[in-house]
Amino acid sequence: MSLSNKTLINEIDSLLLLEFDLQRLLIKGGVRLVGEINVSGAKNAALPLFFATLLTPGKFEITNIPRLRDIQTTVDLLKQLGAEVDYTDHSVNISTDDLKSHEAPYDLVRTMRASVLALGPLLARCGKARVSLPGGCAIGARPINLHLEGMKKLGVKISLENGYVEAAVDSLKGDTVHFSLPTVTGTENIMMLATKAEGTTIIENAAKEPEIIELQNFLNQMGAKISGAGTSKITIQGGDKLKPTKYKVMPDRIEAGTFMIAAAATGGDLIIKNAVYEHLTALITKLEECGVKIEKIKGDGLRVRAYEPLKPVNISTGPFPDFPTDCQAQMMALLTKAKGTSTIVENIFENRFMHVQELQRMGANIELRGNTALIHGNGGLTGAPVMATDLRASASLIIAGLIANGVTEVNRIYHLDRGYEKIEEKLKNVGANIDRVN
Ligand code: EPZ
Repeated sequence: MSLSNKTLINEIDSLLLLEFDLQRLLIKGGVRLVGEINVSGAKNAALPLFFATLLTPGKFEITNIPRLRDIQTTVDLLKQLGAEVDYTDHSVNISTDDLKSHEAPYDLVRTMRASVLALGPLLARCGKARVSLPGGCAIGARPINLHLEGMKKLGVKISLENGYVEAAVDSLKGDTVHFSLPTVTGTENIMMLATKAEGTTIIENAAKEPEIIELQNFLNQMGAKISGAGTSKITIQGGDKLKPTKYKVMPDRIEAGTFMIAAAATGGDLIIKNAVYEHLTALITKLEECGVKIEKIKGDGLRVRAYEPLKPVNISTGPFPDFPTDCQAQMMALLTKAKGTSTIVENIFENRFMHVQELQRMGANIELRGNTALIHGNGGLTGAPVMATDLRASASLIIAGLIANGVTEVNRIYHLDRGYEKIEEKLKNVGANIDRVN
């Protein structure tokens, strides 16, 4: 690409970011959330399924896809690899008959780390892959060493050159991959790669998130033979021919959890349709400890009611089924209202307290001691201009705005649009006083 084109793209890029940057949310606090709210399809389940379509030629249809920037980024990356993708409304049709590239470039990968999920499928399909190292993000260094060590175990040759992972393999051989940490996308990458390995691959200390089960279901519908997803040991019988399939993505458990916390924080009475109880047990346990009433409703869905002062709790994040790190920031906003001191220990990411200083600007009394936050609940947040720093911190600031006295202005909400579909409309429909303004 000539320099002038690159400059032009960078100009457009920065104008777009400026446009996104100018958007912000205005929230007037003090309203209870009451009514019914819908949960969209799960972003972190959809993303690996999109990359899994690279494993074999053919036409795939995936439905219940949320309208999110991360999904659009993945669509753009698949197109750049040569797939034909039609992303209309909440469905996507993907045809991966002719791939024309095996490279995931930096300018796409830097906007979405999950692009690292292109590695496994490209290696399985083409025998080679060139994927930019994702680099860190606001919440941490986000290394991918475990992904790469697992791939080497199956016979992949890997070198790191100019910020890219250069990977190639002649023949994939099944083996045992033991993860020292249960990595979600690392588990997903090895599952996809191992479908084409000769013989059996076993993943030990695998991540147990519901999104891993979704990927197993999708791959098995494609003809793979995988078992054990949801447990710490996953077995993949490799080598079989795979075929395209159709799939409907499960509801987003983190979006559901975010709405549960918002309902509890505002003392509301909210029905969260299609929320799956079994995906949220650690969060439900902690909210009930706070004094929140949570019950299953017929079919899938939960009813969340909070009509007494919230009690303080102690939370420690961990891999599924422990308390999800992706709901930590949202829970911290709620705990500013509890009568007493709560603690949150963040065990997954080394820098996932960026929302603390923003909550402090709103009057929250929070002390940080390493990876532990002490939240001295004083119930006295006041509206202020604040800045979103990452996806879940944005949700935390919205919840804080809902319970603060006065108006809160949340800036840099392009972070929010990566993972929440029309959140301000959904919240407005259940009583929130919230508007998106340019
Ligand atoms: C997934 O990220 C999610 N993203 C994250 O959601 C989520 O916060 C995270 O899992 C933890 O639940 C997607 O699924 C697309 P990890 P992932 O590998 O896979 C360390 C959101 O908000 N690690 O499970 O990148 C790592 O540093 C996002 O939607 C290594 O050291 O997370 C972290 O401390 C944010 N080496 C821990 O493991 C590796 O090779 C867990 O990370 C890989 C990970």
